[in-house]
This record gives sequence, structure tokens and C-alpha cells, in this order.
Amino acid sequence: MRNETGKEALTVEGISAELLTKWAGRRIVCSSETGSTNDDARELADDGAAGGTLVVTEKQNKGRGRQGRVWESPFGGSIFMSCILRPDFSPDKASMLTIIAALSTAEAIEDICDSEVKAGIKWPNDIVMGGHKICGILTELHMNPDGSIKDVIIGEGINANIESFPENIAATAGSILLETGIRIDRNKLIACIMLHFEHNYEIFRSVLSLAPLKEEYEKRLLNMNKGVRVLDPAGEYEGTACGITEAGELIVETNEHCRRYINAGEVSVRGLYGYV
Ligand code: BTN
Repeated sequence: MRNETGKEALTVEGISAELLTKWAGRRIVCSSETGSTNDDARELADDGAAGGTLVVTEKQNKGRGRQGRVWESPFGGSIFMSCILRPDFSPDKASMLTIIAALSTAEAIEDICDSEVKAGIKWPNDIVMGGHKICGILTELHMNPDGSIKDVIIGEGINANIESFPENIAATAGSILLETGIRIDRNKLIACIMLHFEHNYEIFRSVLSLAPLKEEYEKRLLNMNKGVRVLDPAGEYEGTACGITEAGELIVETNEHCRRYINAGEVSVRGLYGYV
């Protein structure tokens, strides 16, 4: 099926035909336009939708990014999607899901493109190719009154087959097409992300630690051994990133030779020379 631009449309059938998972993406709600897939997923979760339910759209009118920012979500070549999770572990572990989502997305992009293509990760969860951000992830946690997790919504905006960007974001934003020259099958990429996510989630779930995934994540971590500026509201400082902990914190060796452990929820990290 083709969409208004004559390109391959995102469809339930197109994704399902490629899907090899047990639970991730086994129910898909797909539209040509919506407000925010994270909001739609939350409504579905409130109505009792199962973990693994996936909401996908071609265009968002109220796309949301991290730290209250707007996520521009025009029609044409992107993927906007949100997956509902219903973890049975404690909320303090939930931030690790965003690391798992980033790793899974990077692995899937590499699989779909070819063995030469490398997708980098800017801690904690931006996917970067050729110095340009090609995917952002917004993870939202909802709690029960007793303090347990009700659900987690993992939303991803992926610049897949975008041919150009408006001037105001052209310096930092990129797409898989612009960085690799490959026009990917978006339905196939979604199915592939679901497969990697399910696999990595189950590994993580068995030990409730990122230890078994750390090596693959750090292989793609663009901040690794690079200078970073930590934008801590309690006081900014600079240092060198030297990996992540088994809980997903960024380890920074400060210029004063002190080790600091950065939690993604609390502070942002910038490269010293540009975006990464
Ligand atoms: C970021 O700021 O880097 C995160 C961006 C996350 C955007 C995605 S698009 C699908 C889902 N729905 C939203 O409203 N936001 C997320």
C-alpha cells in the first residue's frame, strides 16, 4: 500500500508480515495522523491494553520530546511509534528501559541497512549517524497508587526516509536516508526494532541489570572516552565519559580525577565540541 506521497505506507499488515516476536508489537494500532502516539498508547494502557501493544503513525500534531520540548512530526518518511510495557519490577529500574530501547533501535537500523552501517548512541538514548540525530526516544512511566509500575510507554521518533530538514534543525538532524543513501522499508525496520527490543528486554529482565547488554551499548556509545560537559543544576562540570554502569548511569571521570555517576533523569550531557 502507498501513502499520499506515493511511498510505502506504514500499515498493520506491512509490520505484521515482518514480525518475528512473541509479544512485542503483537497488537498494532496504526494511523495516518494523530496527536501523539505516547498519548494514544497511554489511553490504550488505561483501557487495559497488553504489554507489547504498539501505536504507529505517519504524522503527529502534538509530538512531544524530552524536557518538555516539541517533537516536530510532519508527514513523509518518518516513523512515530510508542510501545506499551507492563514491567513487574520496581520503578527505580525503569530508566534502564530507555537504554534498552536505544540499543535495540541502533541494532535494528544496522541490520536493516547493511553490515557497514554503524548507528551511534549519544547517552542515554539519542541515535546518531554522521554527527546528526536520527532518532529520539521519550520514555514515560506511569505508577499505581501503591507505588508499583502501572505501565511504561516508550516513544520513538525516527527520521527514516526524510529527504531534507527545515533550516532551524538542519545542522543537528539527519535521517537514515541522508546519512546512508539507503531508503529503508519502514515497516520492516519497526518489526526489526520490536525483535531486538524483545530479545534485549528479556535478557535484562532475567537479571534486572544492564550488565549483559553493556558491551553492545558501549560499542555504540559516541561519548565513550570523549570530553563531556555535565549540565547539573547543582553545578556544571566537565570530564571524560568512560562508559555506563549496570544501571545505565554515565560514568564521568572529572577533570579533578573524581568519578561521577550521571543519572539520565536528572541532568543532560553535551559534547565539548558540538552535539556529541
Ligand atoms: C527527544 O526529545 O529526543 C525524544 C523525542 C521522542 C519523540 C517520539 S515520536 C513518537 C512518540 N510520541 C511523542 O509525542 N513523542 C515520542
